[in-house]
Amino acid sequence: AADGVRAGPVFPFAELPAGCDERHHVAAGHDAEILIRWGDPVLPGAPAFDPHAPSAAAQAMQFGYNNDFLGYFPMPGAADPAGHGLLVVNHEYTNEELMFPGLGRQDGRTAFAGMSRELVDVEMAAHGGSVIEVRRVDGRWRVVPGSPYARRITATTPMVMTGPAAGSARLRTAADPEGRHVLGMINNCAGGVTPWGTWLTCEENINYYFEGRLPEGSPEARNHKRLGVPAGLYGWGRFHPRFDLAREPNEPNRFGWVVEIDPFDPAWVPRKRTAMGRFKHEGAAGLLAPDGRYVVFQGDDERFDYVYRFVTRDRVDPADRSASRDILDRGTLAVARFDADGRGTWLPLVFGEGPLTPDNGFSDEADVLIETRRAADLLGATRMDRPEDVEADPRTGKVYVMLTNNVRRRPDAVDAANPRPDNRFGHIVEISPDGGDVAAAGFAWEVLVRCGDPAVAAVGATFSSATTRDGWFGMPDNCAVDGQGRLWVATDGNAPGRTGRADGIWALETEGAGRGTGKHFFQVPAGAEMCGPCFTPDDTTFFVAVQHPGEADEEDPNAAPATFAQPATRWPDFDPALPPRPAVVAITRRGGGRVGT
Ligand code: FEO
Ligand code: CA
Ligand code: CA
Ligand code: CA
Repeated sequence: AADGVRAGPVFPFAELPAGCDERHHVAAGHDAEILIRWGDPVLPGAPAFDPHAPSAAAQAMQFGYNNDFLGYFPMPGAADPAGHGLLVVNHEYTNEELMFPGLGRQDGRTAFAGMSRELVDVEMAAHGGSVIEVRRVDGRWRVVPGSPYARRITATTPMVMTGPAAGSARLRTAADPEGRHVLGMINNCAGGVTPWGTWLTCEENINYYFEGRLPEGSPEARNHKRLGVPAGLYGWGRFHPRFDLAREPNEPNRFGWVVEIDPFDPAWVPRKRTAMGRFKHEGAAGLLAPDGRYVVFQGDDERFDYVYRFVTRDRVDPADRSASRDILDRGTLAVARFDADGRGTWLPLVFGEGPLTPDNGFSDEADVLIETRRAADLLGATRMDRPEDVEADPRTGKVYVMLTNNVRRRPDAVDAANPRPDNRFGHIVEISPDGGDVAAAGFAWEVLVRCGDPAVAAVGATFSSATTRDGWFGMPDNCAVDGQGRLWVATDGNAPGRTGRADGIWALETEGAGRGTGKHFFQVPAGAEMCGPCFTPDDTTFFVAVQHPGEADEEDPNAAPATFAQPATRWPDFDPALPPRPAVVAITRRGGGRVGT
């Protein structure tokens, strides 16, 4: 497909009508089955799910909440590597109002009323990630019970800080005077899978978890403000002083990183890779450069924040897995500038170069990495409309940047790469690296599509004219490129009151006459967002993550509040005694073959 020549339509499946109801839907000819739900057993001996008696000890052995990123690793030596592997799953955040009986949000901006120490500890155990062994038996995917790889990572799992910022005075706390040992990862949104078989899982909205006031005159005030710390959306600091800025002003500096986990080696302690920068990482999807260095693309999901790239100093040795163990500790982080002429440049964030000097408050590379956003501000990077997933097509080297929305962009602040004021529906930018080399310093770029309803002229959407009324979407978030180089987009923010449809998966053509044609493939149940799109290597299974089913529409002032007792749906169990449960869904083509054909 790299040459743009294809026999027949790129996406021949029958399009799914767009809408919204309590269930999930997939395009005709496919099956979409639940693989694992919040509360299902992960570790041997995990108790049965009982949301009426929540317990931190049980949750720490069960599948966590709000599944987001999914990564699939074929089992080495398996007879059917596309039917037997490890699935890694991020558990991004928790919805107390849906998880626990009798709780309601006080309002959108404050911690939840009625949260006890035990419930906070349940939440901390419901964050992080899961490793599960999965196998396709007689056409159906199952979790393998008692797997030696089964694992829960939570907000209290021991991890080490590595790379240039490890050991910095700014990472030291009372519990960790060396600044090298941290407990847990939080708000892990998207991620990536490396060629050497590890999982990159990315900390995003870490500001939500911190509360309290910094000590007067704290040197961290400017740094924390740039990351929105503290936002105080959770009540953890009441029971765990490290989340209270008055007690531990440096604790936030230990979050906001990319974490590397080896799913095949549970004894290998997770690494927070500081060389890759600190911000609200959406994901970290990578590609080998022609010279063998590994290149990772990362979005910083905030209005007016940036797109980053990390290039390892060393080359990956595909024949020697252990040679890449710490390859992500050495390399160059850079931030993107998109120029109006359709060209772009990666600006390196290197201590001592340009404005990144002591005059601007950077005393070493650790400072540059801890305050990545401020360093990028000084370099003149392009302020984007909330960069979410950034994924590269290994066949072409082209890179797709999901820009989900930005309702705060004013008419006098548009630029070529972010061309719409009040950008409610987002857009997708396509980067074409110079010479097809993802490690090149320069690139060409263009807007692939401006999202939203093409039938409403004021929206200014640019889907192709072949796109049906079901085929357009708003708010691109995660995405996947399948083995044939086809782009699949997952959305976050479509709702009946905004786009007349639920979130889901849309296929999007990127080449030839059909470029910019969207086609609806999967629809989530009410209140959910679509995450984790992930193909097996042969494209015969498409795993997707249904996140926060039943959640109220926060941006619709008329939407009814959703609670444990009255959720917007009770998907996937539809049991009146059970709340809705985030779950992973395995999509296969009926009768076999590649999904979406
Ligand atoms: Fe967790 Fe940017 O989505
Ligand atoms: Ca999410
Ligand atoms: Ca996301
Ligand atoms: Ca999002």
